Amino acid sequence: MMNAIRGRSTAPKGRGRTGRSATRSSDSSLIIVANRLPIHRVGHGSKAHWQSSAGGLVTAVAPVMQSTPGVWVGWAGGDAKIRPFQHDGMRIRPVHLKRSDVEHYYNGMSNKTIWPLFHDAIRAPEFRRDWWESYVEVNHQFSRAAIAEASDDDMVWVHDYHLLLAPAMIRKARPRLRIGLFLHIPFPPEELFEWLPWRTQILRGMLGADVVGFQTTGAAQNFTRLCKAYCDATAHGTTLTHAGGATAARAFPISIDFDWFDQRARSAETVRRVSELRNRVGKERKIILSVDRLDYTKGINSRMDAFEELLDRGLSSVADCVMIQIATPSRDGVADYATLRDDVEKRVGRINGRFGYPGRVAVHYFRRNLSRDDLVAYYAAADVMLVTPLRDGMNLVAKEYAACRSDNSGVLVLSQFAGAAREMGRALIVNPRDTDQFVKTIDTALRMRRRDAQTRMSSLRSRVKAHDVFAWCDGFMSALRG
Ligand code: ADP
Ligand code: G6P
Repeated sequence: MMNAIRGRSTAPKGRGRTGRSATRSSDSSLIIVANRLPIHRVGHGSKAHWQSSAGGLVTAVAPVMQSTPGVWVGWAGGDAKIRPFQHDGMRIRPVHLKRSDVEHYYNGMSNKTIWPLFHDAIRAPEFRRDWWESYVEVNHQFSRAAIAEASDDDMVWVHDYHLLLAPAMIRKARPRLRIGLFLHIPFPPEELFEWLPWRTQILRGMLGADVVGFQTTGAAQNFTRLCKAYCDATAHGTTLTHAGGATAARAFPISIDFDWFDQRARSAETVRRVSELRNRVGKERKIILSVDRLDYTKGINSRMDAFEELLDRGLSSVADCVMIQIATPSRDGVADYATLRDDVEKRVGRINGRFGYPGRVAVHYFRRNLSRDDLVAYYAAADVMLVTPLRDGMNLVAKEYAACRSDNSGVLVLSQFAGAAREMGRALIVNPRDTDQFVKTIDTALRMRRRDAQTRMSSLRSRVKAHDVFAWCDGFMSALRG
């Protein structure tokens, strides 16, 4: 019934799928507390089934949990009540959300208030007291579940923007527990964060953790300034001292299981699938790929516009290149996501209408969740990868692409507004709002000499390999142990 995230792990306990160890203290367990479980339930009644969850949080945390004894506390999707169960070597403790909580806590406060506000207010955040009340209540619910799972020797690791109040709630009940919080998304500057009517409560909630991790140093600095302003905290280096004790606030840039992607990309099966894919789209054409959750932060529309202009200006043609856009549906209970889907689909139709001809489309668009192996085949086949969000905490797709280029070929075009740009400076860095520069950069990527591309890709791969998800976890855990 339950599909494993990337197929069932055969790794022995205490070792990662690719043989890497994730750090933990000898007898303790790790309690992950995150809104999203690695699998979620879709459909109702006899049609209900489990699917692996897409998104950066699950991609990063799942391999760590395959190598560490522990529990994952999270929402299973939908509103069915599900008892705890075992999955892929870990205990899963589902948190039940009422329909009204899904609407107010998840769609509302999490995805219509915090998500847009923390992403530079790309969409106008909405502020509603009933959403906030539900957010507080659901944070209590997750905290109670974590408290029930944790003994005093365990470490509790809270994840992401849905649960910013949970660290202080857990701390209140269990003062001795080591509690970490990692924010997967950006943390905004004061001018934006201050919009929140509940700004002080949220900062205090986060300060309940011993360690608060961010994707970038800039995000950690924003948090530090706000805690000084609103919580009377004092800062010494990266340590904040406040009424509730001390909290370390630092950057821990998240990553992927590099070896897993590298090995899958080299496999005979992937090589066969790449060749089949290239034959299908036309061997002589360069493949330009994008892979995103269907989210307005990902800049899919501006990317389509740049591609259209590239063709319009005759810099490239449908005979020479093809764009493949893979988009996994996301948060369809939020109106902005439905609007985005319509906009993207209109653009795909328009570009294909203008430039396609029998046997050749300009854009292949797949709106679905693909398996890891499918994604690896696309990454391995793509000559150019466009990762061009308007704002992104990190963006793991950029790292996955690099990990799949075992012969160092391929060109990554990366938005300067993705956290990944801090580490992946050897990509072609672009401002996705500057259409002229964007078009020129795609053109440069398509024309780049093989040797130049290889030099860049080799350096990108070395960086991601050295700073993989296990290094990220080790870094966070050793900070948490103090
Ligand atoms: P975000 O965290 O905002 O979703 P990331 O780029 O950090 O963005 O992570 C997205 C993750 O979701 C990646 O691991 C990527 O492989 C996965 N993903 C994106 N689109 C799809 C898809 N269509 N099918 C399966 N997985 C996907
Ligand atoms: C981002 C967030 C995660 C979230 C994921 C998918 O990666 O940082 O917390 O799980 O998007 O979004 P969803 O709303 O489906 O969980």
